[in-house]
Amino acid sequence: MNLTGKVAFITGAGSGIGAAMAETFDQAGASVVIFDLNPAGQEVADSLKNPSLFVNGNVTSAQDIKQAVQASIETFGKIDILINNAGIFRDKKLLQMSEEEWDAVLDVNLKGAFTAMKEIGQHMMENKYGKIINISSVSHKGNFGQANYSASKAGLVSLTSTAAFELSPYVTVNAIAPGAIDTPLFQSMDEKGKQKFLKKIPLKRAGKPEEIAQAALFLASDASSYITGTLLEVDGGLTTGLNLR
Ligand SMILES: NC(=O)c1ccc[n+]([C@@H]2O[C@H](COP(=O)([O-])OP(=O)(O)OC[C@H]3O[C@@H](n4cnc5c(N)ncnc54)[C@H](O)[C@@H]3O)[C@@H](O)[C@H]2O)c1
Repeated sequence: MNLTGKVAFITGAGSGIGAAMAETFDQAGASVVIFDLNPAGQEVADSLKNPSLFVNGNVTSAQDIKQAVQASIETFGKIDILINNAGIFRDKKLLQMSEEEWDAVLDVNLKGAFTAMKEIGQHMMENKYGKIINISSVSHKGNFGQANYSASKAGLVSLTSTAAFELSPYVTVNAIAPGAIDTPLFQSMDEKGKQKFLKKIPLKRAGKPEEIAQAALFLASDASSYITGTLLEVDGGLTTGLNLR
């Protein structure tokens, strides 16, 4: 799964799963653009061996995304791969959730991906080549206390299918649904929440960010050339079916 000569634009690559994807794609030969709200994204860029670019920006700002896309094209000439990975959660039960908490999560997780796909999808169609990967979550099926997060991640799944139809045949669009992955986001959950998750995973452990990065590498490479519109669950078996043992 070689990405030599390819340019990957990864949102939220300053931490966790996004940073692991930046490292994995770099090792596979790609040049990586790290787009993140957190200035720590610069350290990830500095650690890569191929030429890379860090852009400090917010996925909720169409202007930030536009400028980052322009800077990427000025630096590398094109964008071949887009990973919509930036995500947040603000968990609360539906009846206690504020409008602000709803909007914040939907704006970053869903609208941010829409904005980046619109901007970069156009460029990919002109180049007649592109791979888009949206990072959803097992929570897209619904999860207690995550009305906003689950809805945003379910939205990403249907956005993926729709874009797969509309951007075919040049651009493939797929999604990954990670289960519990050991990142700062997962660690920020309360202990009870984490233990509930871990008890239900057939593989008996949280995933590593690198394990999501390997799945993303497959979908970003030409090894997956006949796959579009799909959702790949990378969750240690968590959502594989009822386990009433
Ligand atoms: N960790 C898990 O268990 C898990 C499970 C399922 C899905 N996911 C999804 O994977 C993705 C990555 O999660 P992670 O665990 O690596 O989280 P993380 O918090 O470690 O990293 C997320 C990154 O996104 C950046 N970010 C947040 N809001 C942003 C914005 N508005 N604009 C630009 N950058 C922004 C943050 O600065 C951070 O660097 C998220 O979409 C998350 O929903 C994670």
